[in-house]
Amino acid sequence: MKTYCYRKRFLVSITINILLCVYIYTGRDRCGEKNQEISHQLSLSWSEKAAAEAEAVAAISCSGHGRAFLEGLIYDGQPVCECYDCYGGPDCSELSPECAADADGGDPIFLEPFWMQKAADSSVLIPGWHRMSYKYNDHPLMSIEYNLMSTELEYYIRKLHSIVGNAITQGRYIVFGIGSSQLLTAALYALSSENSSSPSNVLATIPYYPVYKGQTVLFNSKNFEFGGDTNSWQSNNSTNNIDVVEFVTSPNNPDGELKKSVLGRKTIYDHAYFWPHFTPIPGPSDHDLMIFTLSKLTGHAGARFGWAIIKNKDVYEKFLNYIMMADLGISKDTQLRVLKLLKVAIEENGKPLFDYSYNTMRDRWDRLTSVLSKSTRFSIQKRHPLHCNFFNETRLPSPGNLFNLTKLILYDCLTSYSACYIFKIFK
Ligand SMILES: Cc1ncc(COP(=O)(O)O)c(C=O)c1O
Repeated sequence: MKTYCYRKRFLVSITINILLCVYIYTGRDRCGEKNQEISHQLSLSWSEKAAAEAEAVAAISCSGHGRAFLEGLIYDGQPVCECYDCYGGPDCSELSPECAADADGGDPIFLEPFWMQKAADSSVLIPGWHRMSYKYNDHPLMSIEYNLMSTELEYYIRKLHSIVGNAITQGRYIVFGIGSSQLLTAALYALSSENSSSPSNVLATIPYYPVYKGQTVLFNSKNFEFGGDTNSWQSNNSTNNIDVVEFVTSPNNPDGELKKSVLGRKTIYDHAYFWPHFTPIPGPSDHDLMIFTLSKLTGHAGARFGWAIIKNKDVYEKFLNYIMMADLGISKDTQLRVLKLLKVAIEENGKPLFDYSYNTMRDRWDRLTSVLSKSTRFSIQKRHPLHCNFFNETRLPSPGNLFNLTKLILYDCLTSYSACYIFKIFK
């Protein structure tokens, strides 16, 4: 009887102890979380006003066909909606029935809904004193031209390429630019002949992105001049004595084809569209000079950010010299923002971003091909399926541009958020 009593007391005491422990530990945890939350809230001081301003402007409804911005137009003390093409009215809800699509350009804002879903993770707050210096001081012993780029951002760019499997970055140098547009000229400067009596011929294969010619002509350099279409140039110039720099755009703008060099000499691989939403990725690109852009990867064309991946050290140093002389580097605010965006881009090994972007592009191509298949007047480029290592299946490309439409090219329909007024026109 006595033993039974002791045993009972012992069991009760153990149970009470366990319950106490659970209470203390879970309670402490909860308290800890709460304290953290409170201290997190308490630690917000100067950022609160900026955060409230950002959220207030983001909450202005523009019917999904536009956006209001803090630095946009202000009317009656309130930011007003900036409407996307073909929409108007104070809240962008009015579709203009006569609106013609701009066949000559596009804006990759089709990813805006994805970034709105990722608002908390992708937003940045920039204090008034953020990185006022020209340079980064993370390598204090390095000269300024090597200190114009965020080391952390470079790390994320390399990580992104290894996840997507679209470029080799090990043992390569990386240089940032103000969009890939700046890097295209930096590349010409770095690769072209140093002998002005025999300037390099800059070539691109028809159909090519017109900016290659535009920039070459604009810079009017003694060291390089535009030589036209690569194939025609090859048939007219049998000599190897002429220095050439060939732009290879892969996937190509405008036809979406994965291109290779015609001449196999000095090349600039423009990989603006070499991402899984535009093309199947057959394997990592491994060229001497490859150029990528944020504009087509995440859709942030307005951030103006691109990067070059470079094999050769001399070429890399010439790139740095160009960036240093032309612009003293890239905006530090942009680099911070790009870092935030890339951290989201690589979440779950890129799945959420590339699933969203691929599905959106595929849906638009499906709708477009279905409409055009009913037309006897219009046809577009053929698309060829290919195995994509990233998605691990065979897929059709969904280029960012339309090519071969016999009359009206409605390029904007594919990449613009508000797009596809095309279907109105064709119905
Ligand atoms: C093939 C190609 N390269 C480069 C660019 C320029 O992109 P960025 O916005 O990085 O200057 C574009 C833009 O449309 C493009 O189509």
